[in-house]
Amino acid sequence: MTHVIDGNDVASRIENDLEDCLETLESAGVTPGLATVLMSDDAASETYVSMKQEACDEIGIGGFHRELDPNAPAEKLRETVEDLNDDPRVHGILVQMPTPNHVDSRRVLRNIDPRKDIDGFHPENVGRLVAGNPRYKPCTPHGIQKLLESADVDSAGKDVVIVGRSDIVGKPMANLLIQNAPGGNATVTVCHSRTEDLAEKTRGADIVIAAAGVAELVDGSMIREGATVIDVGVNRLEAETERGYDLVGDVEFESAKEKAAVITPVPGGVGPMTIAMLLYNTIDAASVQEDVPIDLP
Ligand SMILES: NC(=O)c1ccc[n+]([C@@H]2O[C@H](COP(=O)([O-])OP(=O)(O)OC[C@H]3O[C@@H](n4cnc5c(N)ncnc54)[C@H](OP(=O)(O)O)[C@@H]3O)[C@@H](O)[C@H]2O)c1
Repeated sequence: MTHVIDGNDVASRIENDLEDCLETLESAGVTPGLATVLMSDDAASETYVSMKQEACDEIGIGGFHRELDPNAPAEKLRETVEDLNDDPRVHGILVQMPTPNHVDSRRVLRNIDPRKDIDGFHPENVGRLVAGNPRYKPCTPHGIQKLLESADVDSAGKDVVIVGRSDIVGKPMANLLIQNAPGGNATVTVCHSRTEDLAEKTRGADIVIAAAGVAELVDGSMIREGATVIDVGVNRLEAETERGYDLVGDVEFESAKEKAAVITPVPGGVGPMTIAMLLYNTIDAASVQEDVPIDLP
C-alpha cells in the first residue's frame, strides 16, 4: 500500500508546536514580525504572498506588507528593503520572486540583512548552508526534510535524485541532503535540463525529488519499485474548471503511485510545508534577534 503523505496534516502539526514557541516569545513581550514585499502584478505571486500573510495572521505573527509598482525603479525596492532592515518590529523579510526584469534580484537579496533573510537566499546564508552551519534552512527544502521524517524515510545512505538545480529548491535541497547531519547523509545526484537520460537517473534512486516546473515530467516508468517520490512542482494546466485550470505537479501521480512506497500529492504535499517553514524561520529569527530561547520543533 503506497503511503500518500498528507502535507496539510504535517504542516498543521508543526504549526501547533510553533504556537508553544510563540507563547514563550509573547510572555517575554516579543511578537515575531514578517515583512512581505511584492513588486509584481503576476496573479500567482499575489496569491503566494496573500497565503503567507494569512498564515501569519492565523498563528499570531505580525504581518508587514509592502506593495510596489512593478514599473517603479529598482532603487525603490532597495529603499523598501533598507527600511525593513531598520524596523525593529520586523524579524523576517521576504521579497517575493520573481522581481521585474529591470530589477537585479541577486542584488536585492544581498541588500536584506542576513539575520532577517528567513528565505536563506543571502550569499552569507547560502555559504553557511553549504558549510553545514545553516542560519535558516530555505523553506521548501526544509519542509521536504520534515515530510521525509514524518513518513519515517531516513535519507542516510540513500541515493537521492533531485530534478532541478534552482537556487530556491534544487541547490539548497542537495546541500541539506549531503550534510553529515540528521536529515542528510544521502548520496545526491542533481539533474537539470542538460541531463542526458533523466529516466535512467531517476530509476536508480531511492528518493526522487522533482522540482523542474514541467507538468508530469516524471512518470511511473521512471520510478523504482518502492521508492519515495517528493513532488515540488506546481503547474497550471488549462482545464474546464471554475478557475480555468488544474494544478498538477512535476510527477504523474497515478502512474508514480503504482511504483512508489511513499509519495506526495499536488496540491496538499510540499506546498503547505513551505508556508509552515516560513513561520518556523520567522519565529526562529525573532528568538535569536530578541535573545529569547525557544524549543523549535
Ligand atoms: N510547492 C512549493 O512550495 C514550491 C516552492 C518552490 C517552487 N515550487 C514549484 O517547483 C517547481 C520548480 O521551481 P523552481 O523555482 O525550482 O524552478 P526553476 O527556477 O524554473 O528551475 C527549474 C529547474 O528544473 C530544470 N529543468 C527544467 N526542465 C527540465 C527537464 N525537462 N529535465 C530536467 N530538468 C529540467 C531546470 O534546468 P536548467 O537549470 O538547466 O534550466 C532548472 O534547474 C515549479 O513548478 C514551482 O512552481 C513549488
